[in-house]
Amino acid sequence: MKTNIALIGFMGAGKSAAGKILAEKLNKTLVDTDSIIESQSRKSIAQIFSEDGESTFRKIESEVIKKVAAGKNQVIACGGGAVLNTDNVNNLKRDSIIIWLTASPEVIERRTTLDGEGRPLLKGKKTVDEIKCLLQSREPYYESAADIKIDTSELNLNSLIEQIICRLKENADFNK
Ligand code: S3P
Repeated sequence: MKTNIALIGFMGAGKSAAGKILAEKLNKTLVDTDSIIESQSRKSIAQIFSEDGESTFRKIESEVIKKVAAGKNQVIACGGGAVLNTDNVNNLKRDSIIIWLTASPEVIERRTTLDGEGRPLLKGKKTVDEIKCLLQSREPYYESAADIKIDTSELNLNSLIEQIICRLKENADFNK
């Protein structure tokens, strides 16, 4: 049985919002890797990218995931690029059921525009086509990491949580 649930997927797929409610419902601790990175570095993600570069961000992200993945009974909301590194995926897989939240490029464009300018990789407002391109290049990574895939495009938060819980109950590794 695995005790953690890791949420992966592209920016704007709903990982943080779903993570918060899911953790409450399942009585698990919410861990948001981006928030840990920010408080550990005492910088925003945008600042880390602009002052130290993406590779520094990825290094910190991997260290944080390694530590977090060793913990128990958590809902882990991962940054959208966490799965690009196989070590991160392997570390998570040990004790996490991995749920891939997807959304269409159009929905991602709308949600991330509403969220504002916090995401360095979408800085300067990306077009739907640009999002589609980045999304497609990431899909194989999400696909190979995921135990469960849920399209959030048409779902409100409550329906999404219901779907996640329903799919978890079908999963043999989930401690019901
Ligand atoms: C990133 C996604 C962001 C954050 C960073 C890089 C990515 O997290 O980790 O800006 O590479 O997709 P969210 O997916 O929570 O926005």
